[in-house]
Amino acid sequence: MRRPIIAGNWKMNKTIGESIELSTALKRVLFDEGSVDIVLCPPFTALSEVAETILDSNLALGAQNCFWEEKGAYTGEISPLMLKDLGCKYTIVGHSERRQYFGETNQLVNKKIKTLLKIGINPIMCIGENLEERESGKTFDIINNHIEGGLLDISSDELLKITIAYEPVWAIGTGRNATPEQAGEVHRFIRKKIEKLYNGESATLLRIQYGGSVTPENISDLIKDPDIDGALVGGASLKSDSFVKIVKAASNK
Ligand code: PGA
Repeated sequence: MRRPIIAGNWKMNKTIGESIELSTALKRVLFDEGSVDIVLCPPFTALSEVAETILDSNLALGAQNCFWEEKGAYTGEISPLMLKDLGCKYTIVGHSERRQYFGETNQLVNKKIKTLLKIGINPIMCIGENLEERESGKTFDIINNHIEGGLLDISSDELLKITIAYEPVWAIGTGRNATPEQAGEVHRFIRKKIEKLYNGESATLLRIQYGGSVTPENISDLIKDPDIDGALVGGASLKSDSFVKIVKAASNK
């Protein structure tokens, strides 16, 4: 009932030429994958060219970040309005790298989500604990905090435009993915939390993807969990063959 969603977060990788090459290859191989939402999130500099490459295909365009205002004197920032203009359907917000290196808080994440929803772009909201927090038993407190802050004043209709990406920080780029049991446990906690904050229907409909060292080798076990609706993929999204395998595993769910 929930359609799986696989998003590739290319982070600060790929020139324009490399982005065209990768998106062209993905479009060619994935053209008939009809039962999964596939999102490519190249760097800002390549959005325009990737948009053109995947036009009229089953691949959707996403950005990795945005500013929270629509326009104005904010040197160097990119607004959701500009992303919409480029054809972006999704935007990642609150990625742990942005929280860690750029001081992104729940409050800023919430502001970005509100502007994205107003403009008509689907936010992918990243949440998750770091290693110290996990080891000191604070995982669920952090998840509560990220959800309550990020979703403040978001209606139940708006919520359904959002995908939550559970990304334990200790699993990102480390080669150490959360086990399906660890990820599944947190996904179920998130769904319960959404049920409390909204209602049962919202909790049932909300898509929750897992992120953190997802590979073609571990996706099949992760995606088997009934509460894991897909993946946000970093390193393994940079090569066509590994990303294709991940998408195909998810489309068999
Ligand atoms: P990774 O990154 O797959 O390279 O661990 C995931 C992410 O940061 O979204």
